Amino acid sequence: MGLFRKKLKQEHKVMLQAERAGGALLPEYHRATEECPHPERWHMYDSMTAEAEVLEFIQTLVTTIKPEMVVETGSFLGASTLWIAKGLKANGFGKVVSCEFDPVVFAKAKERIEASGLKEWIELRNESSLEMKIEGTIDLFFSDSDTPIRASEIRRFLPQISSNGVILIHDASSHMKVVRQAAFELEAEGLLSCVFLPTPRGLVVAQKREGRR
Ligand SMILES: C[S@@+](CC[C@H](N)C(=O)[O-])C[C@H]1O[C@@H](n2cnc3c(N)ncnc32)[C@H](O)[C@@H]1O
Repeated sequence: MGLFRKKLKQEHKVMLQAERAGGALLPEYHRATEECPHPERWHMYDSMTAEAEVLEFIQTLVTTIKPEMVVETGSFLGASTLWIAKGLKANGFGKVVSCEFDPVVFAKAKERIEASGLKEWIELRNESSLEMKIEGTIDLFFSDSDTPIRASEIRRFLPQISSNGVILIHDASSHMKVVRQAAFELEAEGLLSCVFLPTPRGLVVAQKREGRR
């Protein structure tokens, strides 16, 4: 039976692990990189949810730049969505639209968000970032979906991102080459200016170049 059992999708496996861990913080266990030689100094809930310190950073960024519209790609279990929503609640305005492609993961995220008391700040969508439609201007864009499509989703939303806005690109460590490379390419094309924060999984803080004054 074991031999023929369908392999669990990584997202579903981590979802079950996260449920079992019950919200406990662990030392970050992604491998050390040249830019982040001590990942164990950071904390994590699970290997899909952004590092705990990155979640705090995003919340602080929300209270710092006071966005009207936040877009997140890749909700997973809604942890980062909820940290963004906490920032919006502190601001007293704004909303976050977050999309999750996987219907099973989406259902779990929806459940958590419904129970959080922060639902009014969040619009959760079960769709792909490559199909999602957003009305108006985006002030904060958090790219955290499937790594190979990050460049495409950023290019897709770039025209709608405010030139005063901020773009966050997660998983841009030198270990996760594909996202780092995508950020280098967007920068080389003159589309973005990037700062590479040396967290265990890597976080790019970027701004679009077009329209800067
Ligand atoms: C790294 S996890 C997101 C973690 C979450 N932002 C957090 O920090 O709490 C990536 C998620 O993106 C989802 N995903 C993959 N491709 C997607 C797509 N094209 N559009 C939206 N979500 C996608 C995966 O199912 C997975 O749940």
